[in-house]
Amino acid sequence: MMHSVLDRTSMIGVIGAGTMGTGIAQLAAQHGHKVVLYDASNEALVNARTTFSKVFARLVEKGALTSQEAEEVKRRITFADTLRGLSHAKLVVEAIVEDMAVKQGLFPPLANLVSATCILVTNTSSLSVTALATATQHPSRVLGVHFFNPAPLMALVEIVPWTGTPEETVIAVAHLIRGWGKKAVRTKDTPGFIVNRVARPFYTEALRIYDEGLADHATIDWAMKELGNFRMGPFELMDMIGNDINFKVTETVFQSFFYEPRFRPSLSQKKLVEAGMLGKKRNRGWYNYALHAENAQPQKNAALGDAILRRVRAMLINEAAEAVLQKVASVEDVDLAMTSGVNYPKGLLKWCDELGVASVVEELSRLQSEYQDERYRPSPLLKRMAREGKQFYA
Ligand SMILES: NC(=O)c1ccc[n+]([C@@H]2O[C@H](COP(=O)([O-])OP(=O)(O)OC[C@H]3O[C@@H](n4cnc5c(N)ncnc54)[C@H](O)[C@@H]3O)[C@@H](O)[C@H]2O)c1
Repeated sequence: MMHSVLDRTSMIGVIGAGTMGTGIAQLAAQHGHKVVLYDASNEALVNARTTFSKVFARLVEKGALTSQEAEEVKRRITFADTLRGLSHAKLVVEAIVEDMAVKQGLFPPLANLVSATCILVTNTSSLSVTALATATQHPSRVLGVHFFNPAPLMALVEIVPWTGTPEETVIAVAHLIRGWGKKAVRTKDTPGFIVNRVARPFYTEALRIYDEGLADHATIDWAMKELGNFRMGPFELMDMIGNDINFKVTETVFQSFFYEPRFRPSLSQKKLVEAGMLGKKRNRGWYNYALHAENAQPQKNAALGDAILRRVRAMLINEAAEAVLQKVASVEDVDLAMTSGVNYPKGLLKWCDELGVASVVEELSRLQSEYQDERYRPSPLLKRMAREGKQFYA
């Protein structure tokens, strides 16, 4: 496919004026693009207009923009109540509801009304980019660009070509996204891409430790923060994300990998969701957020804390290594995704080098022999590297 160069003069179309679509539209407009925002719901468009007014007023208040700059950025965003409003876009970002059938219904009419060189990207978190692309007439123009929430602030973007995406399209899109101040990593079209896959053990292994009664949630959070330097503990983070959303992502990744035991969800998290203890948004989750509520205090036992950290970290490193082995992403991109996407204190593969690959394999083998559970199988890549005395970084 021939396509035009993407630069500041390229008009950007955004479909879906919800959480992600408004953030992406704001981001593109702040970087000089004319943006057309379309939503099937008029109410969503009205709300988006209000959101922009508030957001830009706040940016002026904080001194991030002058009021004249804010006016200019706002003027660059226009609203469309039909898909036809996007016909002059050079790149269209789809950020509508996470439903394959609805998305597949959108792409063919969209592809028919934009120019032949217009690139179509989906912001899906969990659906197959390949299945979406191949539902359109010219699948080579479709790829995934996964922003994180809130899109204007989060540093990372995952670029997700499928096997039919021409290399020059990947390069042009990555260049554009880097120009928007983002760190762009490249990932194969596989469930959870990099971040939502590699981060799973942070939650699921913490939940296993909790389920077995080896430690309570406050102690596990303490160990990961105090000894592991993670910014938040797994249980605090699950409460912040929402246990319903976090559980759903784990369940989706588990099912998408044909019930791979490494991704097995936790029954206690499911119970929490069933009980409506969704986390901060409901004032109740693993912790009680009500004013003056008494929460359990961590058991600050160094040996226990160290065992917790070693176990969760070994599982995280194992997942990062599997992603590299299965060519989901490069060593550098896996580390960059986890440090800039979810603020891990260190790249997992760099951390593996520092700990010694052999010691990580040893930890995993110990767990595997103890539990006789395939979930703890050390990645063949780690075993091979340990045998050959290799490291991820020279
Ligand atoms: N919210 C997040 O944290 C997050 C992060 C990364 C990616 N995503 C992905 O981004 C996409 C959007 O998520 P969101 O949280 O912004 O959703 P949202 O519910 O806030 O917004 C979706 C919008 O799409 C509109 N819409 C639905 N069907 C439409 C159609 N056929 N045509 C036009 N508009 C339509 C709705 O009216 C709504 O305004 C999803 O694919 C989601 O998986 C979300």
